[in-house]
Amino acid sequence: MTIKFELNGKPVSVDAPDDTPLLWVLRDDLDLTGTKFGCGIGECGACTVHIGGRATRSCITPLSSIEGASVTTIEGLDPNGAHPVQVAWRDLQVPQCGYCQSGQIMQAASLLKDYPNPTDEEIDGVMGGSLCRCMTYIRIRKAIKEAAA
Ligand code: FES
Repeated sequence: MTIKFELNGKPVSVDAPDDTPLLWVLRDDLDLTGTKFGCGIGECGACTVHIGGRATRSCITPLSSIEGASVTTIEGLDPNGAHPVQVAWRDLQVPQCGYCQSGQIMQAASLLKDYPNPTDEEIDGVMGGSLCRCMTYIRIRKAIKEAAA
């Protein structure tokens, strides 16, 4: 099945089985490996991308569901790495091992659209499903507040 969608601002066309998870289309067919595989069942957040500007877990998003959609990955959030969330992440040296961080950043960028000045509770409510085995949660919370300022 051929699916056409917009990826990081450019039109793409992918020929793959319609139930292929978007995560594997991005990584294997389109060589965008910034989006990570963690659990594969929508529970960890490592695979988070934006679809239509909203945080979405690409591991449970079938290719067939994104016909005509606008998809943004960590590579396209800001081509220069200058998105306020990316800047704050660097300033506060948020990552430890780094594996989950592209998903964390994509989730945080989406959060700030809904909560331009988020409270700790709002941050924890939205970010709570994005897991980090290095426990960078305190720096993530600080960086989101810095990005919002
Ligand atoms: Fe998609 Fe864990 S890999 S939520």
